[in-house]
Amino acid sequence: MRVLTIIPTYNEIESLPRTVARLRTAVPDADILVVDDSSPDGTGEWAEKASASDPRIHVLHRSGKEGLGAAYIAGFRYGLAEGYDILVEHDADGSHQPEQLPALLEAVESGADLAIGSRWVAGGSVVNWPLHRKLISLGGSFYSRTMLGLSVKDITAGYRAYRRTALEALDFDSIESVGYGFQVDMTFRMHKLGMKIVEVPITFVERELGTSKMSGNIVREAMLNVTRWGVSERLGQARSAVAKLSKKK
Ligand code: GDD
Ligand code: MN
Repeated sequence: MRVLTIIPTYNEIESLPRTVARLRTAVPDADILVVDDSSPDGTGEWAEKASASDPRIHVLHRSGKEGLGAAYIAGFRYGLAEGYDILVEHDADGSHQPEQLPALLEAVESGADLAIGSRWVAGGSVVNWPLHRKLISLGGSFYSRTMLGLSVKDITAGYRAYRRTALEALDFDSIESVGYGFQVDMTFRMHKLGMKIVEVPITFVERELGTSKMSGNIVREAMLNVTRWGVSERLGQARSAVAKLSKKK
């Protein structure tokens, strides 16, 4: 299967070269697409040079910082148009271990529509995260799971492999989430489409270089959306239950 690993970047010049080198070694047959939002630190220029000397490396330049979700959607559209079979989400900053990608790909090859690299299943772990990040991630996953009625343990996870057909079933234009709530949004949509979701344990290592783009606004956007989706899902269920009852009469 042809694999495209999508790496969204905003100011990752310190981390991207190492991540790309590790990916090329760990999964030599996979292509790489860097989606850069015009990083002022030269990340896009570095990616451009790398792609000139390695036909497996591609770059999409976007005009400004528009968020993780928008970057991934642009990457998915590119990958689908270019005919890739598996599309991977991969952070640039060293948090995702390229050496663990084969396990995600294997899950898709053996039937999953979406393989999630999970920190919160047996065998998964987080290295060097401060307590508050653990709490946000665990709390966010728990809240989203409960609100949306999902059984996925790591709903906000950013290390994923999608089967092409799973992405083809989506309406990208209707996805509004810009921040990391995008990950929750995608998980919920996959679940509603009846896709097979498999969690694969990974080791998430907090970045050593550069800074996280996570912010209070990103967390608030995600929480608000999850609450909206959860409420409208429940209302929908209640409505169809009432409709069924009145039909019976
Ligand atoms: N193009 C683009 N545009 N890339 C972005 C943007 C953006 O607006 N915001 C973040 N990125 C890129 C970063 O450069 C990095 O490669 C990746 O997205 C993840 O960003 P981080 O800022 O390092 O995220 P994190 O470590 O705080 O969050 C991780 O965990 C989250 C929740 O557990 C990520 O894996 C998230 O995807 C995940 O939801
Ligand atoms: Mn990170």
